[in-house]
Amino acid sequence: MLDMLRFSTAGSVDDGKSTLIGRLLYDSKAVFEDQLQAVEQASAARGDPSVDLALLTDGLRAEREQGITIDVAYRYADTPKRKFIIADTPGHIQYTRNMVTGASTAELAIILVDARKGVLTQSKRHSFIASLLHIPHLVVAVNKMDLVGYSERIYEQIVADYKAFVAKLKVRDVVYIPISALYGDNVVSQSENMPWYDGATLLHHLETVNVGASRNIVDFRLPIQYVIRPDQSFRGFAGQIVSGRITVGDEVVALPTGIRSQVANIYRGEKSCERASVGDSVVLTLVDEIDISRGDMLVRVRNLPHSSNQIDATLCWMSEEPMGPDGTYWLQHSTRRVRAFIQELNYRINVDTMHREVAEILHLNEIGRVQITTTQPLFFDPYQINRATGSFILIDPHTNNTVAAGMIRDRTRRVSELVKENVPIRQRPESEGPGLADGLSGRATVGRDWRQKSSDNVVWEQTAITRPMREALNGHQAAVLWFTGLSGSGKSTVAKALEQMLYDLGVRTFLLDGDNVRHGLNGDLGFSAEARAENIRRVAEVAKLAFDHGNIVLCALISPYVVDRDAARSLVPEGRFWEVYVKCDMEVCKQRDPKGLYARAARGEIANFTGVTAPYEEPQQPDLVLETDLRSAGELAQRILEELAHAGIVRFQ
Ligand code: ADX
Repeated sequence: MLDMLRFSTAGSVDDGKSTLIGRLLYDSKAVFEDQLQAVEQASAARGDPSVDLALLTDGLRAEREQGITIDVAYRYADTPKRKFIIADTPGHIQYTRNMVTGASTAELAIILVDARKGVLTQSKRHSFIASLLHIPHLVVAVNKMDLVGYSERIYEQIVADYKAFVAKLKVRDVVYIPISALYGDNVVSQSENMPWYDGATLLHHLETVNVGASRNIVDFRLPIQYVIRPDQSFRGFAGQIVSGRITVGDEVVALPTGIRSQVANIYRGEKSCERASVGDSVVLTLVDEIDISRGDMLVRVRNLPHSSNQIDATLCWMSEEPMGPDGTYWLQHSTRRVRAFIQELNYRINVDTMHREVAEILHLNEIGRVQITTTQPLFFDPYQINRATGSFILIDPHTNNTVAAGMIRDRTRRVSELVKENVPIRQRPESEGPGLADGLSGRATVGRDWRQKSSDNVVWEQTAITRPMREALNGHQAAVLWFTGLSGSGKSTVAKALEQMLYDLGVRTFLLDGDNVRHGLNGDLGFSAEARAENIRRVAEVAKLAFDHGNIVLCALISPYVVDRDAARSLVPEGRFWEVYVKCDMEVCKQRDPKGLYARAARGEIANFTGVTAPYEEPQQPDLVLETDLRSAGELAQRILEELAHAGIVRFQ
């Protein structure tokens, strides 16, 4: 297949963008005869003896995609060496929006600089956006050299100015070419007017720049566009391979189901072939009959994309209607469409100064850093690694208009990471819930034996989604952390501190606090040994369900009896139940007495009070001991976190 280059052009109206593209196409004979004739006739009709090359491109502006209000014209051209797809983005005020749309798949961007004007804010903006879009190659075409007498000095000054500016951007490859689009100098053929320039002409550069290296050929991703099922015997999965390559016989996994199979056949068009790679539109058949639908993704077993419903992204706002503060949108990511909610706008980037500014909303053409939550997980790679699976658009659910384009940086950042990056953090509202009870009355005891309740006629309903599947989705393992200790020892405090840390890491947690469960689920239980056994049993059963759903479950209960704690442990697989002894000297607990209960127990107002009139059996072999009279809750929570990471239950990035 003929090698291909997608490139975009950026420049303001007078920079000569249309003329340049026209010149390129005209001189390289990359356009069809009939188009040329039409332009020549149009020029003649205007009484223009020379051919107005701008007409070659301007005519294309009409070719707008229906229903999309974005002004990008795509032009296709061939030379014997390469095929070109040119995204021509007009240089009026909509520059950001159009550039993002037109350039998001470009491998090269031409930044036009008028030799008479030098490097203007506009050129800087375009370059900044190009760098934001990770366009791997930039060409700075210093145009209108004829109007500055083909001066080497002026050209060198512009190059020096641009170099000073571009050093701040993440652009790997920048090439500078002095040209005159009007007269064709250094566009297709070497200019005789600038003998001091010994670099490549623009066309030569476009034909030879090595774009292969910037294509992702490693991570196989096939977003499924549709399923082809002409009859019972054939089931093919159609889509464009957006990165990587695949060979017949390779093992693949379908997301989100997590079901594996092997590639049986690959079809490109009508033809069956052995392998296919990035850019190819294919139909795959698999060895097994598995359920895959539009929006799913086929990937390799040992090379999975990230999966998260919380993403950290750079967003470019493209709608006249500004971003709402509580915006809910459709998010289109490859072939998948999900509901999305913009959780937070961290800052807006000032495109002129590149500074971060505090902002509440984004307006047309503004770029910002956002945290987005989606109703279903996305399977993505960071945009930097994979532009296809790292980008998305937001769609207004009412008007169906595209309102923003986004580039995924990662899954949602931990608060600590954002702080490190100097990102302003807004305070999250405290979670609401009933306050802690100050002294439960011990009103009811166990009315019946709950353990007898199940009958042989009750069967366990197995769901198709297993814990390991959920764990894979969550990116961490499930576990039950059972905090035991005296009243006032700090179980809840440490558990809450740990929960916040886990939340910041993007870990799914489920907190069962003794006081809280006694408000509802266990509101009927008192503090006799039996009632406590029942209290532990119910909480342990709930913990097991939440564990099976992939959570890290934090249980904070006094749980004074060894037998009850051991029973709780028995519900969860070995290694996933951690008995955490929150150890604190009784005298310290009494001094703390946060709820005044020790004082009341001492006055005889509370019966069966643990440590006073009821026993506390210390754990004999706890998995962890936390001495809250010696260390702060934060320190201890951190320690648990490290232990969890050490055990491979959670991962730091
Ligand atoms: S458990 O050990 O029986 O599981 P749990 O942790 O659920 O106890 O509840 C303990 C909380 O109930 C204490 O933090 C305290 O606020 C309150 N409480 C009320 N009466 C008692 C009591 N007699 N003994 C211990 N805690 C009590």
